[in-house]
Amino acid sequence: MELREEIMEKDHSRLNKHPQLVTDLKVLNIIIKEIPNFVSISAKQAWTKKIHASSAAIDISTACNLRCVHCYVYRNEKVPYEFNRLSQMSDEEWIARIERLKKEHPHINHVTWVGGEPLMKRELLRKGTTLFKYNWIITNGTLPIPEDFENTTLIISLDGPEEYHDQIRGKDVYSRAKNNIMKTKANVYAHCVINSKNKDSIEKLVEEWIGTNLKGIRFSFHTPEYGVEDPLWLSADERDNIVKQISMLKEKYGNFIWMTKIEIEALKSENQLKVFGDNCLLKNGANISLDNKGDVKKPCVMGPTADCNRCGCTVPPMLYAIAKKNHIPTALNLAKSFC
Ligand SMILES: C[S@@+](CC[C@H](N)C(=O)[O-])C[C@H]1O[C@@H](n2cnc3c(N)ncnc32)[C@H](O)[C@@H]1O
Ligand code: SF4
Ligand code: SF4
Repeated sequence: MELREEIMEKDHSRLNKHPQLVTDLKVLNIIIKEIPNFVSISAKQAWTKKIHASSAAIDISTACNLRCVHCYVYRNEKVPYEFNRLSQMSDEEWIARIERLKKEHPHINHVTWVGGEPLMKRELLRKGTTLFKYNWIITNGTLPIPEDFENTTLIISLDGPEEYHDQIRGKDVYSRAKNNIMKTKANVYAHCVINSKNKDSIEKLVEEWIGTNLKGIRFSFHTPEYGVEDPLWLSADERDNIVKQISMLKEKYGNFIWMTKIEIEALKSENQLKVFGDNCLLKNGANISLDNKGDVKKPCVMGPTADCNRCGCTVPPMLYAIAKKNHIPTALNLAKSFC
């Protein structure tokens, strides 16, 4: 026994010298563990000819301490900070609702916690994240970042370097988020939504964060409301130019651009109606969204007024790559966020 412990100690210390190998082994472990779920969901889909949800997005509250100019939650209501738009459920009611969701959709093993600002419901999140194997919390990063949540990775919104981010999100928001990111030991990634205000800033953003404890950045495009001419929305040409830039950044910075090539390509205007619109897998049942009353929100977290044909959300490219193209590197890349 003592000898075995000694060997384990030795092996462990040796492994610590190879952090990349440790991450690769952890990713492999996740993939192996997920194979039964994947096989069962594929069989069920083939049998019923229906797509079965394997993930959910939960608006744990629509309360938020910011009012970003692009936000779909507050698009039509520039309401003050304290105001909770709809009635909020108690923590107990939420846990009961989430347990019901799990019964109704037994294949859901990944939840994205959104809002509003989900970290304003910290204690509920602490409990909620224990109910799923994999959790992403999407946050504006202005509140202290939890380091002790189980199975959880935080994705911080960074919509450009400071001057761009603050133009979109408000004065001093960037420095508050940066401070919190720099001091955290949690697993943190970033997500940048590109629009007409920050479209020229993405390389500068990447250069600023490479080499820090931020593990990677992913990009998506602003989604406007159906039937509305939105000055933040980018034309097909503008979008294609930016996709080229993201591809160049991927060549230059490798895995720090936390998207695979197929996900980047999926954002090209020529692929819009293959990946988004009526072909969006979110719209077709791969993900269940709950609003802040626990009701199912369709077709996705952005609600019924989002224009699917002009959408630039980051999730359809992920699902397109994995579910439609069976692209294993995309699955590995996403699994990496939990290691
Ligand atoms: C609604 S926020 C909630 C989480 C958190 N408050 C935050 O800002 O990260 C979730 C994500 O949606 C993005 N978002 C908001 N409005 C959007 C829009 N109109 N089009 C695309 N993404 C949008 C935000 O930038 C953020 O990354
Ligand atoms: S912080 Fe998030 S939820 Fe709050 S206004 Fe900004 S994008 Fe919307
Ligand atoms: S808004 Fe975008 S992500 Fe949502 S269902 Fe429509 S295409 Fe899919």
